[in-house]
Amino acid sequence: MTNDSSARIVAGLRTWIARAPPGTKLPSNRALMAEYGASPITVQKAMRTLSGLGLVESRPGVGTFVRTVRTARPLDYDWQTGALRSPQAPIPALSTPMRSGVPDAIGLHAGYPDRELLPERLVRAALARASRGEAALTRSDVTGLPELQAWFANELAEATPVGVTPPAPRDVVVLPGSQSGLGSTFRALVGSGHPLLMESPSYWGAILAAAHAGVHVVPVPSGPNGPRPEEIAHAFEETGARAFYAQPNYANPTGAQWSAQRREQVLDVVRAHAAFLVEDDWAHDLGIDTSAQPIAAHDDAGHVVYLRSLTKSVSPSVRVAAVIARGPARERILADRGAESMYVSGLLQAAALDVVTQPGWRTHLRNLRQQLRARRDLLVDSLAEHVPHAHLDHVPHGGLNLWARLPDATDLERLARDCEAEGVMIAPGTEWFPAEPSGAFIRLNYSGPDPARFPEGARVIGHALANSLDQRADT
Ligand SMILES: Cc1ncc(COP(=O)(O)O)c(C=O)c1O
Repeated sequence: MTNDSSARIVAGLRTWIARAPPGTKLPSNRALMAEYGASPITVQKAMRTLSGLGLVESRPGVGTFVRTVRTARPLDYDWQTGALRSPQAPIPALSTPMRSGVPDAIGLHAGYPDRELLPERLVRAALARASRGEAALTRSDVTGLPELQAWFANELAEATPVGVTPPAPRDVVVLPGSQSGLGSTFRALVGSGHPLLMESPSYWGAILAAAHAGVHVVPVPSGPNGPRPEEIAHAFEETGARAFYAQPNYANPTGAQWSAQRREQVLDVVRAHAAFLVEDDWAHDLGIDTSAQPIAAHDDAGHVVYLRSLTKSVSPSVRVAAVIARGPARERILADRGAESMYVSGLLQAAALDVVTQPGWRTHLRNLRQQLRARRDLLVDSLAEHVPHAHLDHVPHGGLNLWARLPDATDLERLARDCEAEGVMIAPGTEWFPAEPSGAFIRLNYSGPDPARFPEGARVIGHALANSLDQRADT
């Protein structure tokens, strides 16, 4: 009756089918029940699996037969080339952080935290409660569940100093993850053909969203202290851009957190150029030694458009985030969201709200901080011991990643391939640069499964790097 016994029948019959000519009748269900000592349900399940795999076909009232192979004819999609012409934006290969882990590999490439870092009990209970509530059967507003809008607004209001008007719930638009919010914001506030300033390096998904919105990305160099205000001012003046996309807290990939002074200076530059700061606070819940300090809390004139996601701290499956924007910018973004997806599943919104309003949520955040600290420190130590050629500009105070510089001669693609062949997945830094990379970097994520294997992973990287540098030196 178990999945295992149906899998056993499927495996046995696959071998049998491989040897049988097309059209051969399979043994009857009764015969299979006797042969495998299985129940009728288990045998039927196995048959459904084989049929789903296209290996058998059943003829009602007659029996089940090995599927007759149709003559293989190459399919002709040439007409699509004429219909589609060239792509509007480059079509990238699947970005490395979105690749599934190879079984048993040490995954340092990932983008989303392992399940042991998630509040599993809270999430499961919240989903069960949400499935019994109104939200399971009704449509949400385009802007989102009012209580969830209020929660997002309130969180930012708590960080807002006296003298600044805090955001109101109506300034919040709930999103199915902040990735789609990036696309909407770029389309709504910048528009195709117009320039957008972006830190370099920056989040690969923002680079991709900008390309798909037809926005022209203008890179602004950014290091461990964030971008230099004069550099941003110069780029605004030179290009006429009216928006700057940045991650002031625990940037992906560098992990940089801007100082209070830098945050203030950048906001001043943005104000002086009558521009927007698109602040991506993706790692708000992922502080380790410090806490995230949103710049949006210091702006009530609509300059900062603030993106805040719950997917990495609640669950990647409860895909809920929000954008907080004021004034006409909010209306533009809302219009784009309406056209894009109309509304976010109320079920997921209700579940997200349930999780973040439980007393256990605070406990989860405290535990998460400890776990991330231990993982980060272990990976830093492992690199120091096994990859002497890797240089960390700084140890990040939060986020999920180390951004390591390697010798300039490193062939990153080859290094990633060699590591993968040895069971370690890493992300070449190239994907985080909107223009030519300024050096050879790799991004190593410390939130993947099985941190006990970090030292082993670092050892593999160290060997692969040393080998590739030796070979380069020989040529
Ligand atoms: C900087 C940054 N922004 C946005 C996102 C998208 O997050 P989500 O769509 O899951 O909210 C990510 C995901 O890795 C990210 O790193």
